[in-house]
Amino acid sequence: MSDGSNRIVHPAKNINGSVRLPGDKSISHRYAMLAALASGTTKLENFSVAADCRSTLDCLQKLGVPVRQNQAAIEIDGLGMQLVGPTEALDCGNSGSTMRMLSGILAGQEFESELIGDSSLTNRPMARVIEPLRNMGANIAGTGDNKPPLHIRGGKLKAIEYKPKVASAQVKSCVLFAGLFADGKTVVEEPVRTRDHGELALRAFGAEVERTQTRVSIAGGQQLSAIEAYVPGDMSSAAFFLCAAALFPDANLILDHVLLNPTRAGILDVLTLMGGRVSFLQVEQQHSELIGTIRFQPGKLKGAKISGAQVAGLIDELPVLAAIGPYTEEGIEIRDARELRVKESDRVAAVVRNLQAMGATVEEFEDGLRVPGGQKLHGAEVESFGDHRIAMAFSVAALRAEGETLIHGADCVAVSYPTFYEHLDRLIAG
Ligand code: S3P
Repeated sequence: MSDGSNRIVHPAKNINGSVRLPGDKSISHRYAMLAALASGTTKLENFSVAADCRSTLDCLQKLGVPVRQNQAAIEIDGLGMQLVGPTEALDCGNSGSTMRMLSGILAGQEFESELIGDSSLTNRPMARVIEPLRNMGANIAGTGDNKPPLHIRGGKLKAIEYKPKVASAQVKSCVLFAGLFADGKTVVEEPVRTRDHGELALRAFGAEVERTQTRVSIAGGQQLSAIEAYVPGDMSSAAFFLCAAALFPDANLILDHVLLNPTRAGILDVLTLMGGRVSFLQVEQQHSELIGTIRFQPGKLKGAKISGAQVAGLIDELPVLAAIGPYTEEGIEIRDARELRVKESDRVAAVVRNLQAMGATVEEFEDGLRVPGGQKLHGAEVESFGDHRIAMAFSVAALRAEGETLIHGADCVAVSYPTFYEHLDRLIAG
């Protein structure tokens, strides 16, 4: 049941059924941006219907790129490597991916542009892209403390070898995209491996990219050509249903055509280690991305400790894992995850506040949290903090609570998953 932007979630009895997820957000952004630079018309099916990816398409249209959209089917006519100078600011909405990755492309364009965002995005750190793009020769500035809006005057760039301090796939893609416009070979060496959709997308569009586990390089001056593709279902969206299913011993969940790229499927490993069972019903490769249909059946729901290099591969799934922590046997502990504090909200603080509102004991650390297992939650009023993943995480926690939970500002799920509640209701009805 919903009332304006709020949502009441009732306890459920089971999760059962099959769901085909909207296209992966990370891949949708990257395919759209590279399609704009390619020669020819790119045709994408199951493109993400998320508000974030709409922001990317809107920005591309303001850069002169023709985009035709029929729900999840889109066609983008590439302009070659030269876009058109915009006549107004490029609004990235809530989307950090749009702002950070597009800035890499704009750094290589011979015009001025301004990237703006909503109040959440306006508070997110941009030094991580400003620094490397300046090193490459771009004229780029944010506010005094390196927050949006970003002003960019692009042009010819020089290649750099860059070692980001934070593990961020958005930063890696930003620098590699800028590398297309640089003289020489641009290298990114990551502190730990992050999702590799940027590298795979560049290759899909015909660029040569060399890589090892944590080092990726691209030579400037390469041309891109249009592709046709089906965007795999978003595993970060699927994670909410996987965690919901993990709460019910008789659950049976089928995820149809979902992304199985190993840099994104960490949630399957964690849930398996916690006692669940994943069966691969069908797996194939498209443009080097693994996609398949899987069945998930829960088991004991033991608990998990997540830290170090594991964090990057699970970064968007950590709020929901923490939110089901009380229902596990041994609890959930997350460390080395400071990045969670600079997402669409401070996700450590948001999870702690909401779990406490539902009656849980939680320990908060600067770089994570510990949620002891074996706790019962009661329904409560919780906040989305304007953050889609927090709204969905607590919709899942509410399924096993005693009494109903009211989620304030639940309409923000549209940022990544507009049909989330429709799909959740279907799985609850089984
Ligand atoms: C993303 C990378 C991650 C993730 C975000 C999408 C991407 O952000 O949290 O939702 O598509 O590259 P960071 O690169 O900031 O870790």
